[in-house]
Amino acid sequence: YQNIKISTPKPGVGLITLNRPKALNALSSPLFVELNDALSKFDKDASIGAMVITGSERAFAAGADIKEMQSLTFSAAYTTDFIAPWSHLSTSITKPVLSAVNGYALGGGCELAMMADILYCSRTAVFGQPEIKLGTIPGAGGSQRLTAAIGKARAMELVLTGENFSGAQAGEWGLAAKVFETAEECVEGALKTAEKIATYSRVAVKAGKEVVNKSQDLGVREGVEFERRVFHALFGSRDQKIGMAAFAEKKKPEWSHE
Ligand code: HXC
Repeated sequence: YQNIKISTPKPGVGLITLNRPKALNALSSPLFVELNDALSKFDKDASIGAMVITGSERAFAAGADIKEMQSLTFSAAYTTDFIAPWSHLSTSITKPVLSAVNGYALGGGCELAMMADILYCSRTAVFGQPEIKLGTIPGAGGSQRLTAAIGKARAMELVLTGENFSGAQAGEWGLAAKVFETAEECVEGALKTAEKIATYSRVAVKAGKEVVNKSQDLGVREGVEFERRVFHALFGSRDQKIGMAAFAEKKKPEWSHE
């Protein structure tokens, strides 16, 4: 890979580090080809239970690559749908993905961070949807995910003013699940959570991610019905038998991932 680095720093954990330091990890098309490839490989890898996406201490990602988009026409944007690869993470990846956000997470960088299932950041991280300053708007789900996470009042203000907000605010507003003092602690915290998730039954984890994500698209009643169907279905898994038998026998479950 030219624009990302991948590693498996803890058992069951795939780490993807965005790596275009000179452009503050601006999310170019070649970067997305690599990111999607790495996500798919970890998703298919039976030894991996969860993934973490991070950037550098200075920038998670300073947005979509403005220089690449600069001369794009409406017809080219519409017909080639150059943003389509951005949907891969939220539509095709079934294992949990955490984002560990340090430094700038602006525009598409903020949007990528919000596509993750769990967002962690450092107190000094700089989030924002500054597209309005470029004469445009968020294009990779920012207006929808930010609004769902922090409410319409704040999201509307942020999208229309292009003002930044801090990691500390992301925590207070419920966008970030955890806020850390330093960049190092943030990445380590995300890796630890990913490691913990990777110790559980892959079947149950996949179902847990699926039902929580469904809550974003369905009304409460339909969502609860969907959850119940999936809950019933898990009685057909070996791991439900293993997990409950282990509890009854006061033993540690040895998951079959079946
Ligand atoms: C391309 C970028 C970039 C970006 C930074 N760079 N952000 N290149 N696209 N989004 C490049 C700069 O051009 C510069 O390259 C190098 O990275 C360092 O950036 P500087 O601006 O010199 O650094 P600094 O002064 O520290 O300012 C940091 C910054 C600023 C505040 C983050 O770079 C900035 O405002 N970036 C743009 C943020 C933005 O508007 N993002 C939203 C993009 S639109 P050179 O070659 O000069 O050294 C978007 C829409 C997504 O994301 C919709 C879905 C597709």
